[in-house]
Amino acid sequence: MRTQPFTFELPFGGMPSEWDNHIQRSLSSMNGQYYDQAAYAEMLSENDQLLYEVYEVLVPAVEGELLHGVSILHPGKVGSEYFMTKGHFHSVLETGEVYYGMHGTGMMVMETPEGESSVMELVPGRVLYVPPRWAHRSVNTGATEDLITFFVYPGNAGHDYGTIEQKGFRKIVVEQDGKPTVIDNPRWQNTP
Ligand code: F6R
Ligand code: ZN
Repeated sequence: MRTQPFTFELPFGGMPSEWDNHIQRSLSSMNGQYYDQAAYAEMLSENDQLLYEVYEVLVPAVEGELLHGVSILHPGKVGSEYFMTKGHFHSVLETGEVYYGMHGTGMMVMETPEGESSVMELVPGRVLYVPPRWAHRSVNTGATEDLITFFVYPGNAGHDYGTIEQKGFRKIVVEQDGKPTVIDNPRWQNTP
């Protein structure tokens, strides 16, 4: 746990020079999230492939600290839907997050508990602000490149994955006519 000032290097398109925690999420952790369930089942039966990785530096998970790290989302699709992160609300809903696009192209799918929705593009050199209360999921719309982002959020935020696992996001990003397209999620469930 880091409690003293520190630096590390983060080259564009590359890996951080150091980290404390390496999280890897594969296809099996996305059960029920992709709209084409048959394509998901078939892909999973072939290989539980790695979808994304997160490199975190560990600072205390308390108010005042700033948790940060690098997210690397690999390219690919399940059916016509691009590879994406699980997505979450912060457990402390009134906490936001800053993302910085470093490599590749993608989108951030966001929504509030009240039903507001927003999808914004992530490109290298662009800062994307996720305000407090907005659930967020990144999507890699590139054909061959990783989507690499740097993120910073409050130490006490925590993660609520369950709400999105149950309901999904209202919007999803699919390839239509060769282009990334935002559509209503046919599997979105309006459960209380
Ligand atoms: C932290 C955050 C990112 C994500 C990462 C992986 O609050 O938003 O660090 O954790 O992009 O996505 P999830 O956590 O949804 O699997
Ligand atoms: Zn977050």
